[in-house]
Amino acid sequence: MQYQIPRGTYDILPPESRRWQKVKQIFRSVAQSFGYEEITTPVFEQAELFERSSGESSDVVQKEMYRFQDKKGRNFALRPEGTAPVVRSYVENRLDMQSRITRLYYLGPMFRYDRPQAGRYRQFYQYGMECIGSDHPYYDAEIIALQAAFLNKLGLKKIELEINSVGCPQCSKDYDQALVKYFEPFREELCPDCQTRLQAKPRRLLDCKVAQCKAIAAKAPVQLDYLDQACREHFEQVQSYLQLMEIGFTINPRIVRGLDYYTNTAFEFLNPSLGAQNAIGGGGRYNGLIEQIGGKPIPAVGIAGGFERLLLSLEQEGIELTEVSYPDAYLVLMGEPARQLGIRLLAAWRNQGLSICFDPEKESFKAQLKAADNSGARYAVIIGEDEVKAGTVTLKNLKTGEQQQVGQDSMLSCLKVKPFENGGPAE
Ligand code: HAM
Repeated sequence: MQYQIPRGTYDILPPESRRWQKVKQIFRSVAQSFGYEEITTPVFEQAELFERSSGESSDVVQKEMYRFQDKKGRNFALRPEGTAPVVRSYVENRLDMQSRITRLYYLGPMFRYDRPQAGRYRQFYQYGMECIGSDHPYYDAEIIALQAAFLNKLGLKKIELEINSVGCPQCSKDYDQALVKYFEPFREELCPDCQTRLQAKPRRLLDCKVAQCKAIAAKAPVQLDYLDQACREHFEQVQSYLQLMEIGFTINPRIVRGLDYYTNTAFEFLNPSLGAQNAIGGGGRYNGLIEQIGGKPIPAVGIAGGFERLLLSLEQEGIELTEVSYPDAYLVLMGEPARQLGIRLLAAWRNQGLSICFDPEKESFKAQLKAADNSGARYAVIIGEDEVKAGTVTLKNLKTGEQQQVGQDSMLSCLKVKPFENGGPAE
């Protein structure tokens, strides 16, 4: 029996795993530089949390959620996205009591049952950030700026930003009415899904992938024409802040987000050369969500992006990010007393931050030195009978062939290895 990985998932193998590590590291450092702090929530939550927040009629809830019952018959779901869990945690842990503005970022796997294709997976990895506590348009621009800074730091150049406003619940109502009026005469030509959506959630029709529905939707009224005064001003101010921050954007009045919780600003970062799955990040404002899931009426804005599409974009632009890393040293041990001492020293040196390799199955001096050369290490650290007696090691520079005797205690400083600060390496 040969086991296979589930469809729509993937393994991250070395050396690819190094690129993932690097991208996560860059994301964390950029998010922290904007004052965001990391939050980690479970990969599963009560299914109802997503039903209420993403919307009963959304594709995510209708078709894509991995639901399961635990042994006590409780309904859970693997998280399809990160915002609802962050908001659940914010409300449950009363984070509003700690500060007026809460800036959080997260990284982790999300799960959506959809037809896999390039850039679309059933388990995918998201990074995201949420700024909770204010309706001020500055924060919409800040969250966009954070995403832009991250993409910048990665070196990506071919990404486009599109923004829109989906208004507040009041202007949404007017817009929904306009949509129903527009689509009603085409009812018979719409796909069965759209026919049922027409009364409950008319704006879902704008997101339908069926060609016939798409053609009809192309001429539908746009939300921007139905914004009330306050929503229009909010959107204009977001644009002014983006201009001040020198972030290029285009207004796309047809952006429809797949999740129901958005109010006012909605945006997407696109890489047009990625094909059908070209959104490398998206988000917006969600002023009603916190109250909707049991908290106070606190406004918020956020964004999330997919690592897979980022990595595809990096590949397309020929951006490497990582260099091949070699060990600092390779340990060569001759004779039993040297092996006993060497393995003790090996553990101590590794604890102090030295990257050093050793192969216990190679015994001859020649075989060990050859392995040292092949490893790409800078130095061979050689211990034989003489070194055991003298309390030294022989350091051989593997590039120049130069040799030098140094004390076992001063070996690390000779290699100029910095011991780990704060007890261990960062991820
Ligand atoms: P979303 O647009 O559903 O928004 O997903 C955000 C990003 O996750 C997408 O732009 C895409 O890069 C990636 N993504 C989504 N589905 C898949 C998939 N099946 N395979 C690979 N990548 C995928 C959200 O999830 C919201 N929580 C964003 C947000 C945060 N809004 C406010 N705060």
